[in-house]
Amino acid sequence: MATLSLDTIDIHSTDLYVSRGYPFAEWDLLRREAPVFWYEREGIDPFHAVTRHADILTVSKHSDVFVNSRRLRLQDRVDDERQRRSIEARIAARGWDPSEPSDFILMDDPRHRDFRLLIAKRFTPAALRSLERHFAELSRQFASELDRELAAAAGRGEVCDFVKGFAEKLPLAAIGEMMGLPPGDWRRLKQLTNVMIGAPEPSFFLPGEDRNAGVARAVEEMTEYMVRLIQDREARGPQGDDLSTQLIHAKLHGERLTEQQLQGFLFVVLAAGNETTQNAISGGVHALLQNPAQRDLLCRHPELVVSAAEEILRWTSPVLQFARTAVRDFELAGVKIAAGEDVGMWYPSANRDEAVFDDPYVFDITRDPNRHLAFGGYGAHFCLGANLARWELRAALRALIPVLPKMELAGNAERVPNLHVSAIHRLPVRAAA
Ligand code: HEM
Repeated sequence: MATLSLDTIDIHSTDLYVSRGYPFAEWDLLRREAPVFWYEREGIDPFHAVTRHADILTVSKHSDVFVNSRRLRLQDRVDDERQRRSIEARIAARGWDPSEPSDFILMDDPRHRDFRLLIAKRFTPAALRSLERHFAELSRQFASELDRELAAAAGRGEVCDFVKGFAEKLPLAAIGEMMGLPPGDWRRLKQLTNVMIGAPEPSFFLPGEDRNAGVARAVEEMTEYMVRLIQDREARGPQGDDLSTQLIHAKLHGERLTEQQLQGFLFVVLAAGNETTQNAISGGVHALLQNPAQRDLLCRHPELVVSAAEEILRWTSPVLQFARTAVRDFELAGVKIAAGEDVGMWYPSANRDEAVFDDPYVFDITRDPNRHLAFGGYGAHFCLGANLARWELRAALRALIPVLPKMELAGNAERVPNLHVSAIHRLPVRAAA
């Protein structure tokens, strides 16, 4: 492999994520030589690439200096432009307020905190404990479906896709049920989010429709869906304990949220946990199948599920990065970040930081402590669904224990060309010989 150099490394081209996976060698170089690196490349607005664990914590904890409301995710200018146009068109078509952020992640405190607190109680460990048994039942059902599918595919001499056959099912069911959405709608909603993140199923497109038109149609259908959901819950009244009802009837400083605010909020809740948790499950099983000694250890000691889930989160780091913009000058690791400049926090890099993790490139399901940053850097925007994702991942692993020894990889993981969540959208597996 050619020697890497700071002048030429590429950590933003999504086709490279698809062809070679996460750029760990590039992040290693950055952590070693330029942990806060002004990344200026063709086709993407420049930003400071922040790659060390400690520096990501510092940025995350200074939400008064590094704000969310200007640039939240790094993506190339073509995607920036497509997104801007799509948002503007939707706002114009519906007569909404152009100054209102698309969702509450794009807000800063104190307004962000007010919105977040409207639903935060639904995601505490105490609230999730009541769902634990249900997640276990669902996971066992999905694991037996997978088991049957593996056997049937083996009979036909075919391979199965672990993502469709297992990984996507629990995240979809968990959030679909929490939001009180009819099960018959879940698959279509997933299809729509897949189009939006750049992993469309080819059957979605109409004859002659290009990518932009397809994305615009998916956004429109999703918005329509959320608007109908809001109308439905308004008509039903405040009784009902699903999250949608709770949100739609919630009051902030004595006022109900507007249709525009609600649809953004509902969309975030629906989308934020789907691809991410699915990716942790498929990436985790990928890692276990590639490390049979770790797989066998887990199967012999199911009580390791909790530490295994944390190691899987560290190892897979499903969210690549979030961005922030400095609103005043700040010195980070000796580098001056000027007001108005953007920073990008690369979580998978922090999760391989040798200053924090012994042997960071060893997948070790007994790792303890495991202070990974898969859910962000413990600031104001720390993942709201972290407990939900953990509960799901543990339930999925427990249910898979009887199936894992009977399964093997049957090809490479295929990734989505997306710079925020480069999820595995296909993982070929088959019954072990
Ligand atoms: C393995 C699965 C998941 C991973 C790796 C993940 C990762 C992240 C990360 C890195 C952030 C940004 C934190 C920051 O800016 O400091 C975030 C925020 C967020 N996540 Fe997750 N997430 C996962 C699952 C979920 C689930 C299941 C939900 C359920 C609704 C969810 C909802 C959210 C929300 C609403 C935010 C924004 C919070 C705010 O701005 O206050 N996530 N997540």
